[in-house]
Parts: sequence; C-alpha cells; structure tokens
Amino acid sequence: MTRTQIAIVGGGPSGLLLGQLLTRAGIDNVIIERRSPDYVLQRIRAGVLEQGTVGMLEQAGVAERLYREGLVHSGFALAFAGREHRIDLAGLTGGQHVTVYGQTEVTRDLMEARAAIGARTIYEAEDVHLEGFDTATPRVHWTKDGVATVLDCDFIAGCDGFHGICRASIPTEAISLFERIYPFGWLGVLADVKPATDELIYANHADGFAMCSMRSPTRSRYYVQVSLQERVEDWSDDRFFDTLRHRLPAHVADCVVAGASIEKSIAPLRSFVAEPMRFGRLFLAGDAAHIVPPTGAKGLNLAVGDVHYLFEALREFYLEHSAAGIDAYSTKALARVWKAERFSWWMTSMLHRFPTDSAFDQRIQLAELDYVAGSIAASTSVAENYVGLPY
Ligand code: APR
Ligand code: PHB
Repeated sequence: MTRTQIAIVGGGPSGLLLGQLLTRAGIDNVIIERRSPDYVLQRIRAGVLEQGTVGMLEQAGVAERLYREGLVHSGFALAFAGREHRIDLAGLTGGQHVTVYGQTEVTRDLMEARAAIGARTIYEAEDVHLEGFDTATPRVHWTKDGVATVLDCDFIAGCDGFHGICRASIPTEAISLFERIYPFGWLGVLADVKPATDELIYANHADGFAMCSMRSPTRSRYYVQVSLQERVEDWSDDRFFDTLRHRLPAHVADCVVAGASIEKSIAPLRSFVAEPMRFGRLFLAGDAAHIVPPTGAKGLNLAVGDVHYLFEALREFYLEHSAAGIDAYSTKALARVWKAERFSWWMTSMLHRFPTDSAFDQRIQLAELDYVAGSIAASTSVAENYVGLPY
C-alpha cells in the first residue's frame, strides 16, 4: 500500500464520515488511526444531532439505525429561579427538531459501514507524522507492528482531534489560535434509569449548572458543574444525585431516578478555534480545528459541518476538475464555526456559576434568562442556533 487520493488522519466521527462519503463517490482514501476500534468506541460523548447532521449521515448511507432508535426532540427546557421555560424548537423554526442519538452509536454505524464497503483503515498506527503537505506530493508515515509505512497522497485530511498531530504540524507563524478556558468542568454520569423528563433540561442554579439528558428511554445522562479541583473518586453516586436534584426545579428533581453509574467522569470546558483550516494540501476538520464547550451540543455537529464542506470541495476537485471548493473551504467552514462558538460561549456564560461572579453578574444572568423566556425574538434566536444554522 503506497498510494491513495486522500489520507485521513484520525478515525473518529469526522474521519469516518469523510471516508464514507469519499468512498461512495469513488474517491480512494485510507484512514490512519492511532487507537484500536474498541478504544475509539469507548469514548462517551454528547448525543444531540442537528437535522443537517442527520442528513449527512443519510447521505453517507448510515442513518438506518439512527432513524429507528434516535429520539426526535422538538423542544428543550431552560430552568432558572425555580421555574422552567420550554424552547419550542419546532414552533419557533418552522418545524425543525434535533435527534438524540449517542455519538458512540454514530461512530459504531460508520465503522460498520466502512468495514462493509471494504475501505482501508489502519488501526493502532504508531508514530504518525506528515511530510510535504506544503508541496504537491504530501505523505503520511506511520509504524505498525514494527513495520514503517509511507503513504503518498494528493491531500491529507487532519481529522485527528484536539490532541492530534495535524494541527501541530503547521508552522506556528502560519496559524492563529483563539482560546477561552472556563474555570469549571462538567461531572457527567451515565445510568440505566428512565430519564426524568421527555426533553433535555439546562438548569441555572446559584450553586452551579446542572443538566438532564438521555441516550434512550431507559438510559439517562446527567451533568453537574464542578470546580476543576474536584476528583471523580470523591463523588459517590449518592452525592452526585443529591447535588443534581438540589439544582433542579422541585417537580423535575422528584422525577429523577437515581441508579448505579455506568460511566462517571469530569470534563473541562474550552472554546478554541485554529485559523485557517487549510495549509497547502492539509485540511483540518472537527476537533482538530475547533472545540466548543458542550453547553450548546455543537461539537459533533460542527465536525459534520466541516466534513460537509470538505467533501463537497474534494468531490468538485476530482469530479468537476475545479479547485474553487478547496480554495474556499477554510473561509466557509470558519464562518459557520464562529457562529457556533458564539452560541456555545453564550449558553455557557448564561447558565454557569463563574467563581468571579458578583451578585450583579448573577442578576444579569437571571435577567437574560427571563428575557429569553419572555421574548419570541430571543427564544427564536436560541432555537435557530440550537437546531443548527444552515450549511
Ligand atoms: N494519529 C492518528 N490518529 C490520531 C492521532 C494521531 N497522531 N491523534 C489522535 N488521533 C485519533 C484519535 O484517537 C481519535 O480517534 O483521531 C481521532 C479524533 O477523533 P475525535 O477526537 O472524536 O474528533 P472528531 O472525529 O473531529 O470528532 C468530532 O467533536 O466535540 C466533539 O464530541 C465531539 O468527538 C466529537 C468531535
Ligand atoms: C449529552 O447528552 O451528553 C449532552 C446533551 C446536550 C448537551 C451536552 C451533552 O448540550
């Protein structure tokens, strides 16, 4: 194996989706992934899909189980000051909705489809590095089972996540990084218990943010804001559920069913963007290029948006012999990325307790929530961002 058209570094959702679309369009590609398939599947991440994301998965031929098992949600709630306000996604956006379906399941469906179509994936590739992506002859190197391999390609797709090597390979003077780190994390619990409510709830509370989500009618996903000094070992399931209930409106708290956690972890919150998303024959997509805090459920959806633009650009290059799409990729992708960055930052700012918040800041948060709840214009803005801005 020495040559392909597109070398895809990273086999998470971005790399797998791009690979599937390319293969179906007759464009040869190889995925080089540093971990094993099981390791990739064990990462628990969010699970709210925009309609555009679902459309892309359908285009890739992997939406069948998602249509069968995914939960269609036409609204979600903001809770604050002991009350609850429903954002009527469908009513405010002309009938749009989101689909609750775990990212793990999306990844599994894509992996199975890739195996079925017979496309090449190298798992457990060590010492992956790039060469010549600023020339017409880029290459990817790796070692597997002690054997070093070199892959020649036309383009490299950097789909290797926030800690990957693709972004890190771009000369520092050619890339600008924008970042905000939040002074708290989310402690998340996954448990096989009936969800407290039919829809997701994002709650602002004087003690900190809390949220109710789900993976299925029998599997709940809950989060509470914690300080970054907290250690998971100090959080028994009882302590977690007590804290969660305390931060939710009483009628919701009463419906929370506690259960043994099957996963419990603390995740930091970060906003991050790298510009541009193209350097020569290297393209960045997904978490390799940007991170959002989970509050707007945009991480996976943004990655899929990048893949949409990148796939169209590469299809145009090979099938229509035009480089216009690849030249416009970074600008187009970043325009949408920054709007989702803004929305995720705004939701995070409105819903969390910041250690530096004064009583004034807290009153402003409550006024903002009260305004959103009372204004069709403000609710519509939340709804259209939550269901996803158009590509
Ligand atoms: N070489 C090869 N593969 C690598 C390397 C490397 N040097 N470094 C990282 N990887 C792999 C990781 O093991 C991982 O499987 O790249 C993959 C990146 O996957 P994700 O981190 O899931 O990123 P992405 O595919 O862009 O997925 C979109 O948006 O907000 C998130 O939760 C959302 O994870 C989702 C992401
Ligand atoms: C989740 O289900 O894990 C989830 C849902 C919505 C969010 C964040 C996380 O905004």
